[in-house]
Amino acid sequence: MAMEYECIVGAAAASVAPVENDTDNKGLNDKLSSVTSLKESLGEFGFAKDENESIVSVTIVGASGDLAKKKIFPALFALYYEGCLPKNFTIYGYARSKMTDADLRNMVSKTLTCRIDKRENCNEKMDEFLKRCFYHSGQYDSQENFAALDKKLKEHEGGRISNRLYYLSIPPNIFIDAVKCASLSASSGNGWTRVIVEKPFGRDSESSAALTKSLKQYLTEDQIFRIDHYLGKELVENLSVLRFSNLIFEPLWTRQYIRNVQLIFSEDFGTEGRGGYFDNYGIIRDIMQNHLLQILALFAMETPVSLDAEDIRNEKVKVLRSMRPIRLEDVVIGQYKSHTRGGVTYPAYTDDKTVPNDSLTPTFAAAALFIDNARWDGVPFLMKAGKALHNKGAEIRVQFRHVPGNLYNRNIGTDLDRATNELVIRVQPDEAIYLKINNKVPGLGMRLDRSKLNLHYAARYSTEIPDAYERLLLDAIEGERRLFIRSDELDAAWSLFTPVLKELEEKKIIPEYYPYGSRGPVGAHYLAARYNVRWGDLGVDIDQ
Ligand SMILES: NC(=O)c1ccc[n+]([C@@H]2O[C@H](COP(=O)([O-])OP(=O)(O)OC[C@H]3O[C@@H](n4cnc5c(N)ncnc54)[C@H](OP(=O)(O)O)[C@@H]3O)[C@@H](O)[C@H]2O)c1
Repeated sequence: MAMEYECIVGAAAASVAPVENDTDNKGLNDKLSSVTSLKESLGEFGFAKDENESIVSVTIVGASGDLAKKKIFPALFALYYEGCLPKNFTIYGYARSKMTDADLRNMVSKTLTCRIDKRENCNEKMDEFLKRCFYHSGQYDSQENFAALDKKLKEHEGGRISNRLYYLSIPPNIFIDAVKCASLSASSGNGWTRVIVEKPFGRDSESSAALTKSLKQYLTEDQIFRIDHYLGKELVENLSVLRFSNLIFEPLWTRQYIRNVQLIFSEDFGTEGRGGYFDNYGIIRDIMQNHLLQILALFAMETPVSLDAEDIRNEKVKVLRSMRPIRLEDVVIGQYKSHTRGGVTYPAYTDDKTVPNDSLTPTFAAAALFIDNARWDGVPFLMKAGKALHNKGAEIRVQFRHVPGNLYNRNIGTDLDRATNELVIRVQPDEAIYLKINNKVPGLGMRLDRSKLNLHYAARYSTEIPDAYERLLLDAIEGERRLFIRSDELDAAWSLFTPVLKELEEKKIIPEYYPYGSRGPVGAHYLAARYNVRWGDLGVDIDQ
């Protein structure tokens, strides 16, 4: 049976007084000023006036930005549409841009969509949602401006238990200012205050530790929700279900049966004018150190004691801490160059005006990683991530070993590697899980071919897959931390990648140039070949 997107929990949780340890934040939780004068405004929003009820206020800091428009407001609307938000909620946009509530609503309305076209009452729902959206203009480093926000939030809260969620959708250099001001001037006085922090969480071990240290001056670890939106993707969530609830997978999940695991991310476009941010990070920090490594940890972890956040995160940290330091020779970097195809010229990375002409920043990287524990000893985990490649997608490929003494080797031909099983978990787009098997071609002869047992989500499930941000926002509201990154996980992830990143930069390693729209640098093939691996995504068999 299809798992339903479960929102009953959300609605129920909203009416429970959320007294938990993240209420003891270091901000001004003790300053709860009078709210009686504010009650008149409540009728307009249709809120119940029972002061024992709770209310959730979501403040998007950096609401005028790209991420807020593209992802956060639409995700909140989708949650509202599905009935997943608590009964009492308010959404505030906060940024420096001068806007009125009406301006914000107008801006937000342009990016809201009803999941399935022409769904019932969509416009009505949008109007109701937009009525709950407000805007407050302020500086990110002004306690005074945040205190003014606090005042407005209290008007909506009307003396109820106030739970406040801040979403930092701003550049990382202003995280600390915003956290300081929100914490000191606009924390909840009687409920929880949580902060969702977007990547990047630093650019190496030192800067990440400094960021964590600064955040913890104002917040406890329980209040910090470090978001990695890949963890909110349906098929990444499904990894554990697949493995721990199906007898046929878990016993095979070891070095004994698995030859290699591939984690592949590709985009078919370049930086397209947004290279300024990217150039300071590069593809390893942008995709590998976080998204792909998180997937790897989930994939490779031991069975957790339970599905509780801490039990899962404990197992993930163990994987990260068991990983062998990455050697420079196990990393290949590339950068896309201009390419003309069909009369169209595609730009080089350094043609982007926001990128320095002599930039060595990798837009592609491939790496071989190893987990030195009993389960995975010797199994290469190959990662590959790149921009401006021939296709776009994210997938996990598990290549199994040969069948020992295979009776059918004669029928398979000389390339035995092509006859091994491969499990592919296509995270995006067009979600699917398929297993490549050998099969007899029907007929009187004995000819084998490669076939797929295919779970194609679009064909199997009629429910639309929620966006990762929806799941993660809902989890943050409910205090579910399973899909957020704990500080020790982050430290372990940076410890793994920082030395090789430093080496690449100090030695000014020149990336291998690959044409825009190609399959990436040839070096990635040599790297894989060194470990007897063939990239599964580049095969010419039945994948496409
Ligand atoms: N866009 C994405 O798809 C995406 C994906 C993953 C992660 N992220 C991360 O999410 C965060 C927000 O992304 P975004 O694309 O929405 O960023 P953005 O549009 O560049 O910035 C968001 C808002 O922050 C304010 N801002 C921008 N630069 C500033 C500066 N130098 N000083 C002070 N305020 C500044 C602006 O608002 P005002 O001028 O109105 O104050 C802007 O509207 C970033 O940390 C980014 O790395 C983004």
